[in-house]
Amino acid sequence: MKRRDFLKSAAVIAAAAGSADLLAAAKTVEAPAERAEDIAPEGGKLIASAPMLQNYAEKSMGVAFAVSALANGYVIYGRQSDLSDGKKVKCGGFRATTIHNEVIHVRLKGLEPATKYYYKIGADRIDYKDGYHMYVIGNEEDPQIYSFTTAGKDAKAHFCVINDTHKRWSSFAKITEKIAELSPSTVIWNGDANNREEKLSDLVETFLNPDIPAKDYASRTPFLFAPGNHDQRGFAGRRMENIWMFRQPDERASRDWDLGRNFAVRMGEVALIGLDTGEDKLDGNPLFAGLFNNEAYREAQVAWLEDALASKEIAEAPFLVAFCHIPLFDPRPDANPGDLYPADVAPGFKRDYAAWQRSCSKLWGPLLDKAGCQLLIVGHQHCFRYDAPTEGRGWAQIVGGAPDNTEERFSTVIEGKVKGKKLRINVHNIHTGKVQESFTFKAR
Ligand SMILES: [Fe+2]
Ligand SMILES: [Fe+2]
Repeated sequence: MKRRDFLKSAAVIAAAAGSADLLAAAKTVEAPAERAEDIAPEGGKLIASAPMLQNYAEKSMGVAFAVSALANGYVIYGRQSDLSDGKKVKCGGFRATTIHNEVIHVRLKGLEPATKYYYKIGADRIDYKDGYHMYVIGNEEDPQIYSFTTAGKDAKAHFCVINDTHKRWSSFAKITEKIAELSPSTVIWNGDANNREEKLSDLVETFLNPDIPAKDYASRTPFLFAPGNHDQRGFAGRRMENIWMFRQPDERASRDWDLGRNFAVRMGEVALIGLDTGEDKLDGNPLFAGLFNNEAYREAQVAWLEDALASKEIAEAPFLVAFCHIPLFDPRPDANPGDLYPADVAPGFKRDYAAWQRSCSKLWGPLLDKAGCQLLIVGHQHCFRYDAPTEGRGWAQIVGGAPDNTEERFSTVIEGKVKGKKLRINVHNIHTGKVQESFTFKAR
């Protein structure tokens, strides 16, 4: 017996038996058409942002978008530009979809490396009463077909790095314009995208609905994310995965289950390594009431980093560039090194928070050095600086700027591109619109 027939029969039996529960269940199949008229809001759009491509990788891609009401979102993707070969993937993983009223996350898996895909987004509007009473009361699809290209050793080696954008929209608008002009394979957002965000809607504004003209700034260019100290501040920031999905579970070992932010991606001749320096204050700093656990987190990333650097695709890349938010080196003797116990202050050091992370430098620096890492790109200090390699530290460090729009403190887009056998880095000054400085690195 088909379910519909069963429910009709059940209604008869239920009526005869006087069972209110069965009768209610039987009515559910008849309800949607009437309910759609009753419940659908007038004229409100369900899809509330352009899609954002998250977690650039060889064989997977994350797609996130905002919705205005409870929705079951999906992505249709394929190799054909008209999506005639399109496959539909629903939000969430197996078993139950993740109906949500603010953010939809769809993970596309099993993709081919260095391959172009086309996609579009859609969502069913859901009226959910309880486990037996749920209705599709509308559907919306963004008519726009977007595209992306996955990472891999045959991908174009071209990246951009941004940092410390801090929701300063006029500067962020110029940053996204520069990225559109440069058209890189991926953008690494190197932390402090936020300030201190208490509600998920604040994070939606940061990533999916920033107050800039190019609403689709991340719809065709995939992003990677190395969080900063400000990205874990505020109640919403404590669970950043509600807006920026973790890396695919099959992209990390079970030992590294909690390390959803680290990335090791091969893009042409370049290996990109992402690390998370966490807060710029000690876990025991009384300001934070014991609510952080970054020291153990930094240590846990050591084993992940060792394995990532040893993996064939990463080890064989001619160029190794690493990213984290807080610097791993500072030439100034009074720069706070982030390990001034118990409360981040000591005579002779400026400020009561880390300007650089000596603990991370000790944990990760030698591994990067041994692997022949040529360059570490960081942020956090809001002022562009280049630190040349020194004896015992083979990698150079570039500190990206931040949006104060002054001659000394300007936003940067740090562009890396392989030409011939060299990695060329251009530091674009967003304040002047000119290239501030350029650097060239030889293959390792
Ligand atoms: Fe910052
Ligand atoms: Fe920072």
